[in-house]
Amino acid sequence: MKVLFVASEAYPFIKTGGLGDVAYALPKALRKMGIDARVIIPKYSTIPLSFKNCMENLASFTVPVGWRNQYCGLKYLTYEDMPYYFVDNEYYFERPEIYGCYDDGERYSYFSKAVLESIKHMGDFVPDIIHCNDWHSGILPALLKDSYSDDEMYSEIKSVFTIHNLKYQGVFPKEILDELLNLDEGYFSDDALKFYDAISFMKGGIVFADAVTTVSETYAGEIQTPFYGEGLDGLLRSKSEKLYGIVNGIDYELYNPKVDKKIFYNFDSDSIKQKVKNKLKLQNQLSFTVNENIPLVGIVTRLVKQKGLDLIVAKLQELLSLPIQIVLLGNGDGYYEDIFQYYASIYPSRISTNIVFDEVLAQKIYAASDIFLMPSLFEPCGIGQLIALKYGSIPIVRETGGLKDTIIPYNKYTGTGNGFSFENYSSDELMDTITSALNLYNDKDSWNKLVKNAMISNNSWENSAKNYMDLYSNLTD
Ligand code: GLC
Repeated sequence: MKVLFVASEAYPFIKTGGLGDVAYALPKALRKMGIDARVIIPKYSTIPLSFKNCMENLASFTVPVGWRNQYCGLKYLTYEDMPYYFVDNEYYFERPEIYGCYDDGERYSYFSKAVLESIKHMGDFVPDIIHCNDWHSGILPALLKDSYSDDEMYSEIKSVFTIHNLKYQGVFPKEILDELLNLDEGYFSDDALKFYDAISFMKGGIVFADAVTTVSETYAGEIQTPFYGEGLDGLLRSKSEKLYGIVNGIDYELYNPKVDKKIFYNFDSDSIKQKVKNKLKLQNQLSFTVNENIPLVGIVTRLVKQKGLDLIVAKLQELLSLPIQIVLLGNGDGYYEDIFQYYASIYPSRISTNIVFDEVLAQKIYAASDIFLMPSLFEPCGIGQLIALKYGSIPIVRETGGLKDTIIPYNKYTGTGNGFSFENYSSDELMDTITSALNLYNDKDSWNKLVKNAMISNNSWENSAKNYMDLYSNLTD
């Protein structure tokens, strides 16, 4: 089985969010199961030079984009035994930012076409499956069915499309059909790419891929309802027979407190007592009172509405009157950045606001904190809560998407569960749940039991990779 995994970002080359983690870890897990999985991403100028210097030139050719032919250099590199391909075109990818350009519609139209053309230059690697991810490669399944189906090389290739976040859809003016994609007017219809007066790349993936997946079972159900459906719930209901929810895992070679070099002191589920040393050291670094009995609450997130920050903001004043400390890390909307910075300026010994994307500090927070807050409005899967579990920081989450599927509420009678959760998007429910967690924190035996449960929860990629493998097999049988 050969799988070409198409993504707009992949760790360790370029990563802005969870998709970058998945594009590293899932293909790796598939390879371990004997699948010849390979990854292809754009060659952004911001990929570190140390990688760029090691890339090999495989081929150069042109890619038709509307009436023009654009250059494509196909580069290749193996990293940790994984073959990676890079689509090189300086006009599109030699920029300081990777997303949010005025011509993203053109850049990712080009990328999808370039991926399809690249297959002619991969030697004997002709994929059985092209696995596309999010809107950036959503148009590819449509192009594969339209422009390549008569070509023998492509006629047997099946496509899988994974939705990591339905909110970001890649919606562009309808002129793009003719001017960039070389697709005829017929595609501007409800059962093809039309989304109101425009063209949706996300719809391209949903309509034209042979199977559609999303990153948790709960989210797969949620997106078929108007609240979570982002205007596509009707379409998703009509495609429910080919829609699957497969929860993400995390890579325990990357995220393991026993060997993680980014944290102050290593520990595991048999040496939970060592964890507290991380807290004392971080308290000191943040100029908080150094005291192992003060619960430390961590928030590591992009600062966007999706993450449920409005609930936290609504209760922040109240939270800061409790005997706790809060450390926040992340950047995003200025609105949230300002609020958290304001509180940190008033209560510097209670809340530390760190407006950066800093993977080292992130790990230190997971290792040091007692509680991890993630009350998302919606969460396709979520990775923060999975890392928190492994590092013994107890997640408090809202029961949505992957948060619901991975966090089992603590049951004080049976001692089972690995976190705390609440149902409604309500700041009162969040506050009640935090209060319950803080009460349990004072009962050290029960708390330590909970920490142990959290740390031994298994969210490795193995099970999920097996589900993807079954899906690929069903498509190619
Ligand atoms: C997106 C989602 C997040 C998910 C990630 C990887 O970033 O918002 O919930 O974990 O993709 O699938």
